[in-house]
Amino acid sequence: MKPIELFSAATIARRVTELGKQIDAQMPPGPMTLVCVLKGAFVFMADLVRAIPRQMTCDFLGVRSYGDATLSSGVVEITSDLGTTITDRNVLLVEDIADTGLTLRYLLDVLSARGPASLRTCALLSKPSRRAIDVPVDFVGFEVPDEFVVGYGLDAGQLYRNLPYIGVLRS
Ligand code: IMP
Repeated sequence: MKPIELFSAATIARRVTELGKQIDAQMPPGPMTLVCVLKGAFVFMADLVRAIPRQMTCDFLGVRSYGDATLSSGVVEITSDLGTTITDRNVLLVEDIADTGLTLRYLLDVLSARGPASLRTCALLSKPSRRAIDVPVDFVGFEVPDEFVVGYGLDAGQLYRNLPYIGVLRS
């Protein structure tokens, strides 16, 4: 099934460049640590780091959420932890999409317990109409309607991550 294009590769590239500037202007000064939530954010992260003209380190957090593919239960298992400490660092948590917000909430709680100097969140996509919990998303690429989206790292059953655009999957 071919997804219906929502955001083209060129539109995404323009927005990521803007986001990088916004993040650089608004994050506390000094070096940052960007934490990529795997797997969904890996494509976004690769472009975003190159759009932030600031000294930074990158780290990766593997997570698996329980529940079916389209419904988050909010119960998240960390399958691969960070390789570095984030204590006293300015941390930006980079997610693919804030849907119910439960995953982001869980990860914010886990990371804030490690004593970062600051902790902010960035999601490429946000579905505000689906939010089940109040969670701060400090930087958002695009707001999307309540549809299942794929591409640019986002999957359906592990497929479509390699699409250069973001599209809606309708059966
Ligand atoms: P949450 O509901 O905010 O906890 O979302 C958890 C995770 O579900 C996200 O990080 C995505 O990996 C996945 N997800 C939610 N909505 C979509 C979607 O529309 N397409 C692909 N993955 C999604």
